[in-house]
Amino acid sequence: MDITAQLDASLGVAVEGFNPATAPEEEIRELKKLVYSEKIVILKNQDLEPPDFISFGRRLGRVETYYQPMYHHPEYKEIFVSSNVKKSDTQIGVPQTGKFWHADYSFMPNPFGLTLIYPQVVPKKNRGTYFIDMGAAYEALSDDLKARVAGKNAVHTAGIYFKIRPSDVYRPISEVLADIERETPPVRHPAALEHPVTGETVLYVSRGLTSAIEERANPGQPDADLLTELFEASGQLDSTFTHESIHLQTFDRGDLLVWDNRSLIHRALHTEKPEPTVSYRVTVHDEFPFYQGIASS
Ligand SMILES: [Fe+2]
Repeated sequence: MDITAQLDASLGVAVEGFNPATAPEEEIRELKKLVYSEKIVILKNQDLEPPDFISFGRRLGRVETYYQPMYHHPEYKEIFVSSNVKKSDTQIGVPQTGKFWHADYSFMPNPFGLTLIYPQVVPKKNRGTYFIDMGAAYEALSDDLKARVAGKNAVHTAGIYFKIRPSDVYRPISEVLADIERETPPVRHPAALEHPVTGETVLYVSRGLTSAIEERANPGQPDADLLTELFEASGQLDSTFTHESIHLQTFDRGDLLVWDNRSLIHRALHTEKPEPTVSYRVTVHDEFPFYQGIASS
């Protein structure tokens, strides 16, 4: 593994010479350490078939299959497909995914620690994903905000950005909303959680998936002002994406990104008239609890 820091970037390292199939166990451990410390690792010059990509995920931990089948690769359900390219007039995967600040699966009781993205069709311009380091964001909070976050839970819900499925067309919206409530009832996680590997405190709220913030001891009393202040302080309300906390991670064909889904939130970069773009995603529970004290599931 040949590791280089990214120029002009606060986050992430590039790695040359890593072979997911032949890397010895020790190198896999080293790679995971790098993901926790540097938060984004870009594995360069990868050439993997879908089964190889899944096998690599399995080397990092337990692969999570997305709960909604419409996102699945037609042959490999473990691969989540984001695509605006049709294959013989059939939509494969889902277009325009993740165009809002979020941590993957935060609306689930037990989110996964690692996200792997392997772009398949890379647009020429406007390519990339925005990231915010929520460990650094917590650290930069005023003492007042840190004190107000202490002892609070954040409520996460899939409902804010739920994508209407083809099968939902002509259904009453009340039934679709009832489906969301039944399949993914709101969950609570600490608004500031402790990363189980680095020990870092992470501000775990995102504009796209966090609906409320409330006292742990007194749920049902949301503090809307606090949630807005946290979004503001962490850069999530900046529609120009020039906030100092925001990092744009670009990629080339052959790059495979692995990132720390505990401490980063991200947001896809899509423009009004997007170029063809296809990306495969595999998500992985590592061997650590998502955070200290999470209810085991
Ligand atoms: Fe995502």
